[in-house]
Amino acid sequence: MTESGPPDFDEFGIYDGISETIVTTMQGWSPNAAPIGIIRKGNRVFIRLFKGSITYFNVHSEGVLVANVVNDPVIFVRSTFSNLKESDFSFVSVSGREFPVLKDALSWVVFECNNMKMSHEALVAELLPIHAHINRSPVQAPNRGFNAVIEAAVHATRYKLTGDEKYLKLIRAYSAIVSKCGGEREKNAINMLNDFLKA
Ligand SMILES: Cc1cc2nc3c(=O)[nH]c(=O)nc-3n(C[C@H](O)[C@H](O)[C@H](O)COP(=O)(O)O)c2cc1C
Repeated sequence: MTESGPPDFDEFGIYDGISETIVTTMQGWSPNAAPIGIIRKGNRVFIRLFKGSITYFNVHSEGVLVANVVNDPVIFVRSTFSNLKESDFSFVSVSGREFPVLKDALSWVVFECNNMKMSHEALVAELLPIHAHINRSPVQAPNRGFNAVIEAAVHATRYKLTGDEKYLKLIRAYSAIVSKCGGEREKNAINMLNDFLKA
């Protein structure tokens, strides 16, 4: 990435296992954002994108993306159901190319895709970091309400795809955890998610 070599992913908030990030990409002149899991195995990082999303289309055609580490549950919900506002993005220039990043990200990493493989349902690629930045690194204890918003958002994307009512039941259970353990931001996020589902 730099003369000093690849980044220490831990430092940027991307740990072993799957880190739920907001991936930002460009479609023509428009930035797009969606929650996407970044899969880290030791010092290697991968992405799996299911066909049909804008992110899939953009990554497939451009071969680059930005993984934004975000601790705002509202951004997860808004980017699951709609796109973010232009004013949520800023742009950074890396090697003469413009990349959209989230203004509210704790950190972000610009990746190039390597060895992209397509199956009938998804693409998988290894991600090579080309630039990384930290805005803030707050000390923050795990909050079950935040985690429950993420779980509910995952089930909401499955519900959107399949219409299977079992996901609504799971979302109700996670909403109860948010009521009990979440802060104001988590409660706003879960209300927004339930409103999107009713719409
Ligand atoms: C926490 C979370 C993680 C997700 N991870 C992935 C993923 O790794 N790959 C994927 O294809 N979709 C994933 N999704 C689903 C996409 O975010 C969802 O399909 C989204 O609507 C795509 O938006 P887009 O069309 O703007 O790209 C995830 C959703 C959530 C809530």
